[in-house]
Amino acid sequence: PAEEKAITIGFSQCTEGDAWRKAMHREMEREVSFHPEIDLQIKDAKNSSARQVAHIREFIDQGVDLLIVSPNEAEPITPVVEEAFEKGIPVIVVDRKTSSSSYTAYVGANNYQIGKLAGEYIAEMLNGEGEIIEVWGLTGSTPAIERHRGFLEGIAAYPGVEVVADVKGEWEKEIAKARFPEAFHANPGIDLVLAHNDVMALGAYESIKGQARQKDLKFVGFDGLGGPNGGLQFVEDGILDATFLYPTGGEEIIQLAYNILHNRPYEKENILNTTVIDDRNVHIMKQQSDKILIQEQSIERQQHRIYEQIELYNNQQGLLYILSAS
Ligand code: FRU
Repeated sequence: PAEEKAITIGFSQCTEGDAWRKAMHREMEREVSFHPEIDLQIKDAKNSSARQVAHIREFIDQGVDLLIVSPNEAEPITPVVEEAFEKGIPVIVVDRKTSSSSYTAYVGANNYQIGKLAGEYIAEMLNGEGEIIEVWGLTGSTPAIERHRGFLEGIAAYPGVEVVADVKGEWEKEIAKARFPEAFHANPGIDLVLAHNDVMALGAYESIKGQARQKDLKFVGFDGLGGPNGGLQFVEDGILDATFLYPTGGEEIIQLAYNILHNRPYEKENILNTTVIDDRNVHIMKQQSDKILIQEQSIERQQHRIYEQIELYNNQQGLLYILSAS
């Protein structure tokens, strides 16, 4: 029986269609399960900023205790997030940002820094000489803008390294896959593809399947997700030459929400760590992440058993009551 939960958290997610967001949700739901008084409600905007604005308005009208938002694009989502914040609802912005500082706290890695790290790494990898196609995430979303800016800063000291074409991949593998070949055929001499996430790098890679150049072209992405559909696997398989870890932060988000809701101290800016993953460390990274995945499954199994025990206990209490009344 669903008892009335004391605290409602509304999470407006820009999309839940990809493995990275699914991992984020799993982490959040596991962390929430340690706090049975919290009801986490997730609305999926399916990559539509208009839909996301409507979702956030629904959460405001419903009177949620705390709002979590991962904005599809910064500009269109900013006013409604400001509105929620000004109405006194604590707002945690995650991963993608708005264009304003009207929010309670932020959780995510520093995308400018990651982009810069990627630029420096790639310039070294290419020995200071090479042509690049950059596959962009949604151009109105802050991680795409910041990764791009950081990347240009990272290669700035290497005049021989240049971006010769852009592809608008909108964070989606299939879109990158459809649009990459045109840019590639217009620039057949490129050395490397930098995609703003791993799945778009994979899309670009797959789009030129069977062509001789596929093998000697270099591919670099961001995310470094574990599991069978993640960037760690793509690096291990030799599809990607490198990726830059972009943690999902699901656990940190719920812990932060908990602290805010209980008037405990918290930081406004919560910056998650990053690192480069390539053939030198992918193996150990994969082992670690596989181990975590197994531990997570075992936590979920244990929780399931606890619920079963509680059910059993409740039934027995009911039975005792009936017996004592008769
Ligand atoms: C997942 C994703 C990640 C990327 C992030 C940027 O939806 O596209 O691959 O790092 O969003 O916001």
